[in-house]
Amino acid sequence: VDILDFQENLLNWYEQTKRELPWRKNQDPYRVWVSEIMLQQTKVDTVIPYFNQFMEWFPTPEALAYADEEKVMKAWEGLGYYSRVRNLQTAVKEVVEQYGGKVPSEKKDFSSLKGVGPYTAGAVLSIAYEKPEPAVDGNVMRVFSRIFNITDDIGKAKTRKRFEAFLPEFLEGVRPSEFNQAVMELGALVCTPKSPGCLLCPVQEYCKARKQGIQEELPVKEKK
Ligand code: ADE
Repeated sequence: VDILDFQENLLNWYEQTKRELPWRKNQDPYRVWVSEIMLQQTKVDTVIPYFNQFMEWFPTPEALAYADEEKVMKAWEGLGYYSRVRNLQTAVKEVVEQYGGKVPSEKKDFSSLKGVGPYTAGAVLSIAYEKPEPAVDGNVMRVFSRIFNITDDIGKAKTRKRFEAFLPEFLEGVRPSEFNQAVMELGALVCTPKSPGCLLCPVQEYCKARKQGIQEELPVKEKK
């Protein structure tokens, strides 16, 4: 893969195609964090109204830290996976107590907060703080497993680490916030699980799976 050309094609496509989403309005790390937690198990269209309501009720880490747990649960009602929001409130309390209400920008600090795994850390540090960190979720593994014809089981932690190992090269010389969100957008709009839109793909020339006609067989996910 010609990485410079790959970056250019992908970023130009993203510039022209990207959706205006409420969490893309600015790079406030708290907003980005809340959005990434909501988006982990929930689709974009479902998340939008919940995100807007949540930001109205709890606009800052302080507001969420001091909020009634009942009101917080009310704001999450219908999103499911309630441990996400319980962990988030625990984590912002820590941000208020230990970091003066400023979301930490060091990976070791942010990653040690409750509910913050490798994906969330990569997403928030890259999108809010422009740190060159990969943010590897299912979408990103789908895109790059097709590009490189990677047949490892994406359900395994070892496979995620394999993606995290080569992605930093793709983050060189670009804005990490733009690059990571461009890959997410490609996974959401073009490089979809079923019937991917390869003819519309800005990096189709680099896709090994497409070359072999096996894009729909990837990624490999063995049943548990
Ligand atoms: N899915 C996960 N993170 C996302 C983001 N920042 N924008 C759109 N979809 C996402």
